[in-house]
Amino acid sequence: MSLRGRRVVLGVCGSIAAYKVVQVARDLTLAGAEVNVVMTESATRFVTPLTFHAITGREVVTDAWQGWMGHPEGHVALADRAELILVAPASAQTLARLALGLCDDMLGLTVLASDAPLVIAPAMHHRMWNHPATRAHVAALRERGATVIQPDTGLLASGAVGEGRLPEPPEILGAVRWRLGRRGRLAGKRVVVTAGGTREPLDPVRYLGNRSSGRMGYALAQAATDEGGDVTIVSANVSLPEPWGAEVRRVGTAEEMLRATREACERADVLIMAAAVADYRPESPSDAKIKKSGEGLSIRLVETEDVVASIDRPGLIKVGFAAETHDLETNARAKMAKKRLSLIVANDAAATIGAEDACVALLYPDGRREEHGPLPKAEIAERIVEAVCRLAGQS
Ligand code: CTP
Repeated sequence: MSLRGRRVVLGVCGSIAAYKVVQVARDLTLAGAEVNVVMTESATRFVTPLTFHAITGREVVTDAWQGWMGHPEGHVALADRAELILVAPASAQTLARLALGLCDDMLGLTVLASDAPLVIAPAMHHRMWNHPATRAHVAALRERGATVIQPDTGLLASGAVGEGRLPEPPEILGAVRWRLGRRGRLAGKRVVVTAGGTREPLDPVRYLGNRSSGRMGYALAQAATDEGGDVTIVSANVSLPEPWGAEVRRVGTAEEMLRATREACERADVLIMAAAVADYRPESPSDAKIKKSGEGLSIRLVETEDVVASIDRPGLIKVGFAAETHDLETNARAKMAKKRLSLIVANDAAATIGAEDACVALLYPDGRREEHGPLPKAEIAERIVEAVCRLAGQS
């Protein structure tokens, strides 16, 4: 993940979950962000400012008067610099203060004086989280545009079990990444990405499937989210972390993928068809487990419908993939024409499936060709989404 040069203010409040946020500060810093930590007085009882200073390499602000020396607008200096403010862990007290606009400490001042997007990760005892007062404060903050991450349910520091745990650092980072992308080149565009591989049942316990892991599809969904797209993933048999903010529709078979993708595309601007869809399915799957007969087994397969070819809407940008073992460009161009694609991503099937890196050629209907790789799949996904942004910019 790259957050190179992005300027994040991290507001830390008084909650035992503050220890987890040290990891968030480290992850943001390693991703290249400039992280300016502001701690409330009670936060300093749980973790020292020195810890965050050592992690971020920057001055940690604990006192609203600290910035005044040599700076006439010390109290709003951090607010001016912030591209995003993350409050984590957000205590019940701080949620109330932010909702009311109180600014008697540096965190309150910074939030009130900034128009940067606000991401809030609450953590508290479950009865405090569920109290009508806290509910009302959260509703007010959401109403004003803040992203409030839902706390996890589980064992709380007090020993009680309930809703109120700080989500794990990857989820908090996902929300920050999503929010920072909102003004990207796909802002306001609905993007449908299909991912994974379909499985066609032979009987209740067996299926015909393929080796697709869904990694490329999920990387594309993340890259489209980073550009501000409203992403729906139609996901077939994938077990990977989902990009924060994406809607995920889970499917199993080619038939389910067809229905879910058609429905998701009704209002979409872009369809990126990265899933490996079965071309054939068993004509009549057995209701009972197939037993050995000692005579071999023949199964009649019938063709499935082509998902991307069957979806056509004026203005819909359709991106397809061609994983070939021979005559790569000729086969890919034929598929692009047959399926009426705006762009096809051609690659060598044997070299790509299951691999970390990929090498692709982007082919366009007007004959243009761009080559990318070998690069990690996440970077290839970024190049493909770049191309989609250019196409979306022209439409
Ligand atoms: N595709 C699809 N529906 C199918 C099969 C494929 O939407 N039933 C999409 C894939 O997701 C991919 C593109 O079509 O974006 C090309 O898939 P590929 O399997 O390479 O092509 P096929 O048309 O299935 O041709 P063949 O398997 O004969 O090479």
